[in-house]
Amino acid sequence: MINQRLLFARAYEKAVGPEIAPISRPVFHFTPWIGWMNDPNGFSWYRGQYHLFYQYNPYDVHWDAMHWGHAVSRDLLHWTYLPCALAPDERYDCFGVFSGSAVEMQDGRQLLMYTGVRKDGGEKGSGDIQAQCVAVGDGMDYHKIDANPVLGASCLPEWGSIHDFRDPKVWREADGSYRCVAGTRDKDRNGALLLFSSPDGFAWRFESVLVKNDGRLGRMWECPDFFRLDGKAVVLVSPQDMLPDGREYASGNGTVCMIGTFDEQQGKFIPERDQAVDCGIDFYAPQTTLTPDGRRVMIAWMQNWETSRPEKEGSRWFGQMTLPRELSVRDGRLYQQPIRELAGCRSGRVEYRDVHFSGELALEGIAGRVADLEIHVRAADPGAPYARFTLRFAQDGKYHTDLTFRPRESLLEIDRRFSGTRRAFVHQRCARVAGRDGDIRLRVILDRFSAEVFVNDGAQAMTVTIPTDMAAEGISFFTEGRSVMDVVKYSLFAEEQPAETAACQ
Ligand code: FRU
Repeated sequence: MINQRLLFARAYEKAVGPEIAPISRPVFHFTPWIGWMNDPNGFSWYRGQYHLFYQYNPYDVHWDAMHWGHAVSRDLLHWTYLPCALAPDERYDCFGVFSGSAVEMQDGRQLLMYTGVRKDGGEKGSGDIQAQCVAVGDGMDYHKIDANPVLGASCLPEWGSIHDFRDPKVWREADGSYRCVAGTRDKDRNGALLLFSSPDGFAWRFESVLVKNDGRLGRMWECPDFFRLDGKAVVLVSPQDMLPDGREYASGNGTVCMIGTFDEQQGKFIPERDQAVDCGIDFYAPQTTLTPDGRRVMIAWMQNWETSRPEKEGSRWFGQMTLPRELSVRDGRLYQQPIRELAGCRSGRVEYRDVHFSGELALEGIAGRVADLEIHVRAADPGAPYARFTLRFAQDGKYHTDLTFRPRESLLEIDRRFSGTRRAFVHQRCARVAGRDGDIRLRVILDRFSAEVFVNDGAQAMTVTIPTDMAAEGISFFTEGRSVMDVVKYSLFAEEQPAETAACQ
């Protein structure tokens, strides 16, 4: 039986969603049907299509009682909204249906596993009680099982916290049984990931502490993921309250990829290396799925809690997802590339090879806010790298966002201070990248209100959102010193874009 709260949300989004003009949205980055969106949830392949659920408050552009929004796609680029999948309508999840994941069951149904949140009724009466719950369905309608919650206080190690116990990532093993990882934290607020198992997806038990924070990587660990890739075991996690660690991590909520091995007997992950998943500003809570052809694809909230206030008054939606990215592990590091399906949406190739320049440069045919750019820069004089290379985009007389590489320091910086933002958010981020002699490859994907930068074949990524007025569509280059550049630019989804220029989100 479908609960009133879900029916109300479904009626609301169906009535109000169409009021949002397509022109106010990005062209191919996913946005909520209406209202607020944060983490991707339940990213999965089910019955011939990709499903993407999301943390969702249909009624406003701010975070509030979480629902699960829902959409499907055949190519990870064109999404169709489906009715809201879950609402906070049970005693154990009445404060929010928090993040989780999805998997196909043996009998063909889809299992959603999520965190149900209620407020404790105790003397203090204000703390969250978080527990893991499941719902089963057919890809459209889901039924929360009577036995919920399936993982609560009794399944936690004695040091775990019921106030921070969330974001289960579920998968099935080759023998058909289920596993999930979820985050919690100890009394010192150090995050940990717990591994649970189940024969049927409904009856769960604690297995082991998969990995524990040693105090170095932030505090509570949110939105974990755990998978094997290219012969390694990989953990993705979004730690809260990180401290900077050289140039690798910045302060605040961040994302970490740990690469190592998995001791199956002990149920322990042994990390060997860790790195930021994305070195930009707007990237959080990534989640992965396997495609039918075996690719490990990741999508993330293209926002950060530090930057989560809408820039434009009157906007009816807030929050974008990143482009889905294909992952691989090479030389002990995570690599990411835009999904290959994007190449099929390119048109209007403009190419320049061996452009020698110093100072400012604009190139005929290189402009636009929805574009795929491949740039290869190197020093004009071998052994004498230039001091600085800047790609400037979303540019007019007033606005611009800059991506600057300084080979002598091996630093790549994104700077959106002049993007038209009126908010005192974080506007600059810097990452150490390879390319000391000035040789660097950049792939930059622009989609109206964002830029995703893939550095040196995807060895690093840097993502930002920009609120810039759509009329600012200039792209230019600058070198201090002398450099040589190849640049290839494609339009993306050219035939599908609405014709007028849009206001920013
Ligand atoms: C991460 C997060 C999750 C939680 C959800 C609530 O962004 O805080 O840990 O489940 O958002 O919306």
